[in-house]
Amino acid sequence: MKKTVTVFRGDGIGPELVDSVLQILEAAEAPLKYEIFNVGEAEWKRNGELIPQEALQSFEKTKILLKSPITTPVGTGFRSLNVTLRNQYDLYANIRPVRSNSAVHTPFPNVDIVIFRENTEGLYVGIEEKKDENTVHAIKVVTRKACERIIRKAFEYARENGRRKVTCVHKANILKQSDGMFLEIFRQLAGEYLDIEADDKIIDNTCMQLVMNPNQFDVMVMQNLYGDIISDLCSGLIGGLGLVPSANIGEGYAMFEAVHGSAPDIAGKHLANPTAFLWSACMLLEYVQENECAGRIRNAVDAVLHEGVHLTRDLHGIASTEEYTEAIIQELKKGGRKSG
Ligand code: NAI
Repeated sequence: MKKTVTVFRGDGIGPELVDSVLQILEAAEAPLKYEIFNVGEAEWKRNGELIPQEALQSFEKTKILLKSPITTPVGTGFRSLNVTLRNQYDLYANIRPVRSNSAVHTPFPNVDIVIFRENTEGLYVGIEEKKDENTVHAIKVVTRKACERIIRKAFEYARENGRRKVTCVHKANILKQSDGMFLEIFRQLAGEYLDIEADDKIIDNTCMQLVMNPNQFDVMVMQNLYGDIISDLCSGLIGGLGLVPSANIGEGYAMFEAVHGSAPDIAGKHLANPTAFLWSACMLLEYVQENECAGRIRNAVDAVLHEGVHLTRDLHGIASTEEYTEAIIQELKKGGRKSG
């Protein structure tokens, strides 16, 4: 039976990515049905509404969302819809796998890191208070509950997936209470997972270590803003933002999206690399236990990347989004119809 999922077309390169990925899912005969909605800045300009009620109702019904990037104005304007969705549906675990691909040349051929980013609090609560003309205070919220569940999720993932180590990234030398509590809880919980090595590092040192020797890292767990920054840094190690997918997991709901944003600089130019969004769709398929289908798509992407003929510009190729998409579809067809 086909599983229904909600799809948000988003802003910038979002609609191009959705078109590409839905075509590939169809070619792979993914057992999914889609309820598709326009959301984001374009909707805001059209209807004064970032997200139509029917779109939210659909997600509340399907509980699974494939979301393409949404623009958030810098400095002024509305609150990030991405942050709102993560909070409204308590999607507390943002899981971001960053893996080198042997077809993509980088100085770091063996990166295999999974980032667990706390997704509901920290500085992302967006509480800012103007004290006077020249002073603004920004509040960072850290709760024991949120720390415990993301750290536990990282250790559980490590155990279930045969990973050797979890590294806690923090700034507890300066933020002694907030980051101090995160680190204290990490050390406590590490005692329940003695089969997994537990390590902790201050965030500034972590950045240096990541660009000098990323292979030392395995699973990493951190608060919201640190996770945001570290995952973009890690994407740079493996060839760019076009290659990093993510899952946002809560108790009842799950949302899958690329790590990157709406890339307004290349929107509408047929330059977007849909791989990160496609791999996010693969994570969705794995979430609904359609591993075989996800595997076929992953193999087709690998084949196209290794062939090296239809690469998008971010990967030093000249193929358009559509040509790359078509190459993956042809590769899927070569693999024949799905078995079973
Ligand atoms: P961005 O991630 O959109 O783009 C950064 C750079 O990477 C740009 O040069 C862009 O062309 C390139 N890039 C990103 N994705 C690519 C892809 N798939 N293929 C080829 N190149 C790609 O970050 P930026 O420019 O800082 O943000 C743009 C907007 O996106 C902002 O409004 C921001 O708030 C929003 N954003 C939304 C996110 C989401 O919906 N989850 C996440 C991050 C940012």
